[in-house]
Amino acid sequence: MRKPIIAGNWKMNNTASEGAELVKALKPLVKDAKCEVVVCVPFIDIPAVKKAIHGSKIRLGAQNVHFAEKGAYTGEISAAMLKEYGVQYVIIGHSERRAYFGETDETVNKRTLAALAAGLTPIVCIGESLEEREGGLTEKVLDKQIAADFQGIEDFSKIVIAYEPIWAIGTGRTATDEQANETIGYIRKRMKKVYAGKNVGRMRIQYGGSMNAKNAAGLMAQPEIDGGLIGGASLKAEEFAKVVNYNK
Ligand code: PGA
Repeated sequence: MRKPIIAGNWKMNNTASEGAELVKALKPLVKDAKCEVVVCVPFIDIPAVKKAIHGSKIRLGAQNVHFAEKGAYTGEISAAMLKEYGVQYVIIGHSERRAYFGETDETVNKRTLAALAAGLTPIVCIGESLEEREGGLTEKVLDKQIAADFQGIEDFSKIVIAYEPIWAIGTGRTATDEQANETIGYIRKRMKKVYAGKNVGRMRIQYGGSMNAKNAAGLMAQPEIDGGLIGGASLKAEEFAKVVNYNK
């Protein structure tokens, strides 16, 4: 019932022309994909990538969105600006934004509500640090993010969560299939309790953190895992296609 969703997060990689080349190479490789396929690209790449994915199953995503409709917010991009370009998804609250750009649970919540109001699908990132996991604090950290980041949402079928343990991002140290499944199961259970009656059962939860062509099948075979948010392994068409085609 929950359609799997594999999304690439290019981060600050690929100029517009490089991005267009990458998706052109990707198109034939993912044409029979059974899952939703998304590329979340730098803002400036959006027009070129939009043109390049035309006629394919690949959908367009951004990596952030501001919460105000418009105004004096130098350097920011609004949901309406993304929407006009055919962007359908937007990553919100990635741990890199939380760590380096002052993103808080409060701003994550505001951005998520703004994205939803504009008809974008937010991919909201949550997850614990290594210190927190080793200190036995994973559930406590997730509880706090769950309580704060999703306030005011009425229909959870319209959002995607990416569970990204910070210690697994870009480190080559993936959570084991069981660890990822167990934690995502916990998130779903907790959200069903906190946001009862709001369609949480239809919300998709991805795993993210060093997911690649080799480990995708194992992770995706887990019952709680509905997809992946892929950083490094989304930067090469063949590698990303193997993740997308995990079931082959
Ligand atoms: P990674 O990044 O796949 O390179 O670990 C994932 C992410 O940060 O979304």
